[in-house]
Amino acid sequence: MQVTDPSDEELLNLAANAAKNSYSPYSGIRVGAALVGENGEVILGTNVENSSYGLSICAERVAVFTAVTKGIRKFKKIAISLSDGSGIMPCGACRQVLREFGRDILVITRDKTGKTTTFYLDDLLPHSFTLKGE
Ligand code: THU
Repeated sequence: MQVTDPSDEELLNLAANAAKNSYSPYSGIRVGAALVGENGEVILGTNVENSSYGLSICAERVAVFTAVTKGIRKFKKIAISLSDGSGIMPCGACRQVLREFGRDILVITRDKTGKTTTFYLDDLLPHSFTLKGE
């Protein structure tokens, strides 16, 4: 069933669920991302690793690239989770890829105590590089 405009908690659960499909035999770190487009649609991603390590890709970028493939280029929020439901912060590369599509995207994760925490992308990547002047 397609979930539209889920709550932050629901979105974290969707991300944790996506992480169960992670292909991460090298790191063993199973990451899931659940991205919400401006139309409320949820787009999922998980990390996919490769025996040529540098070719591995993070869950967040899989979600963003899938969304763009579907014609969705504006995002409200993204939840990131490990498969066991614990939180993980987005890496620098993923922050920059998200930044291409907006600075006010909400990043939802969990802190070490399991409490839901949210950040604005602009606070996670201040003074960011962009060629679009936005
Ligand atoms: N990973 C993500 O999927 N997202 C992040 O933001 C950080 C790291 C993945 C990449 C790799 O498969 C594993 O976690 C260990 O770095």
